[in-house]
Amino acid sequence: MKITVIGTGYVGLVSGVCFSEFGFNVTCVDNNLSKIESLRKGIVPIYEPGLDVLMSKNISAGRLEFSSNTQEAVKDTDIIFIAVGTPSQTDGSADLSYVFSAIEELSKSVNKDAVLVIKSTVPVGTTKSVKRFLLDRGIDIDVAFNPEFLKEGAAVDDFMHPDRVILGIESEKAKKVLSQVYRPLYVFNVPIVFTSLETAELSKYASNAFLAMKVTFINEIANLCEACNADVNDVALAMGLDKRIGDKFLQAGPGYGGSCFPKDTSALSDFAKRFGVSMPLVEETIRSNNARRQKMVEKILRVCHGTVENKKISILGVTFKANTDDMRDSPSIEIIKALQKYGAKITIYDPSFSDQAKKAFENVSWGQNAYDSCNDADVVIILTDWTEFRAMNLKELRKRVGRPLLIDLRNIYNEKEVESSGFIYCSVGRAFNE
Ligand code: UGA
Repeated sequence: MKITVIGTGYVGLVSGVCFSEFGFNVTCVDNNLSKIESLRKGIVPIYEPGLDVLMSKNISAGRLEFSSNTQEAVKDTDIIFIAVGTPSQTDGSADLSYVFSAIEELSKSVNKDAVLVIKSTVPVGTTKSVKRFLLDRGIDIDVAFNPEFLKEGAAVDDFMHPDRVILGIESEKAKKVLSQVYRPLYVFNVPIVFTSLETAELSKYASNAFLAMKVTFINEIANLCEACNADVNDVALAMGLDKRIGDKFLQAGPGYGGSCFPKDTSALSDFAKRFGVSMPLVEETIRSNNARRQKMVEKILRVCHGTVENKKISILGVTFKANTDDMRDSPSIEIIKALQKYGAKITIYDPSFSDQAKKAFENVSWGQNAYDSCNDADVVIILTDWTEFRAMNLKELRKRVGRPLLIDLRNIYNEKEVESSGFIYCSVGRAFNE
C-alpha cells in the first residue's frame, strides 16, 4: 500500500513516519522546499522525542521519502492524508485555506481510486465540503475523516499506542482501506471506531475542548484552594482516583497553551454558533484560561511585595509544556512580557534551547543550564515542568540565588522539601505563608 501525507507539521510528519514504521511506503509532501531538503537528509525540524531515530530508520529502509511535488505524489497512491494546519483566524474560526489549497493542487492529478482522508482538525461539515469541491471538478473520490489525538512530546508513542482510532467514513471502500492502514494496531487491541464524517469531526473538537475544560476546572479549584487552605494536588489526587473522573489533565498550572487547545476551543465555539448552538461552558473555559495568565502575574507581584522593578527574575522553562520546543500560545509569553513591563530583568533557561523561544522574547538573557541561570536571582520561577527541574539540588540552587524565593507555577515540588533547603516557596493552589 502506498500512502501520501500532505503537510509535514507535527501531525503530518509523525503520522508519515509512523505509517512507514508500520511497513507502508510513504511519501510526505510539503510545499516548503527547504524543509523537504532537510527532511531528506534525516533532519527533524521539530523537537519530538524518538522521531529522529524512526525517521532515519525508515528512510534507510527505502519506505519513507519526501517531496515538494503534490501532483507527482498523488498520481499512483492508494491513500492520501491531508495534515496541513488549520490555524485560528482573528474571529476564532478555523482557517481552512491550507486544506483547500492542498485539495485544489491534488485535484490536478489525483488517482481517482485512492481514498482521501482529512487528518487536519476541521469544523463539522468540512470533509463533505471537500467531497463537493472535488465533485465540482469532476473528481468522484472516496473521502474519510481520521482525527489525530497525539500530544506533542509524546507523539510517537501516542501514534503507536493510541487509546482509540476514530474513522469517519461514508463508503465500504474507505472502511476497507482504512482498516488495512490501522491493521498493525489490532495486536494491541486498540478500539477502532467507525462513525459518520460529522461525528468523527466533532469527536476531535469535543475531546480537546473537554480536556481544556478539565485543566481549567482544576485551575479554578486551585484558586479556591489558595483561599481556603486546601492543597490542589491532593484534591486532584482525590478526584482522579474516581475512575469516572480519571487522574489525567488535573495538573493545576499557569493555564493551557499550545497549538491545539486554544485554537480548537475557539473554533468549536465559532462553528457551534453557525449551527445556532451556544456553548457557554466552552466559552467560559476560553475566558477563564485567558484570564489565568494575568492572574499568575498578579500572584508573582503579590509574592514580591507588589513590585518586581529591577529584580532579577530567573525563569525555568518557557515552552508551552515539557518535551517540546513549541512556543505557540505558551502562557510564558504573556507572563514574561508583563513582568518586563513592570521593570523585571529576565534570564531564561529552557532545556529545548528553542529558536522559537529566542524569537518570542526581547531584552532577556539566556542561561546555558538551570543552575547558572539562577545566579544572583531575586526570584526563580518554574513555568514549564521539564523533567530536569523535578529533582534539582535545591541546596546548591540556594547558594546561587540572591533572595531565596521559588515560585513554582507547575507544582512540581512540595513546600516542606523546598523550605528545608532555605527557600521561601510559592506554588499554585496551595496557601502561601511567608
Ligand atoms: C492536545 C491533546 O492532548 C491531544 O490529544 C491532541 O491530539 C492535540 O492537542 C492536538 O489537537 O493536536 P498538546 O496540545 O500537544 O495535545 O498538549 P497537551 O499535553 O494536551 O497539553 C495542552 C496544554 O494543557 C499545555 O499547555 C499543558 O501544559 C496544559 N496542561 C495539560 C495542564 O496545564 N495541566 C494538565 O494536567 C495537562
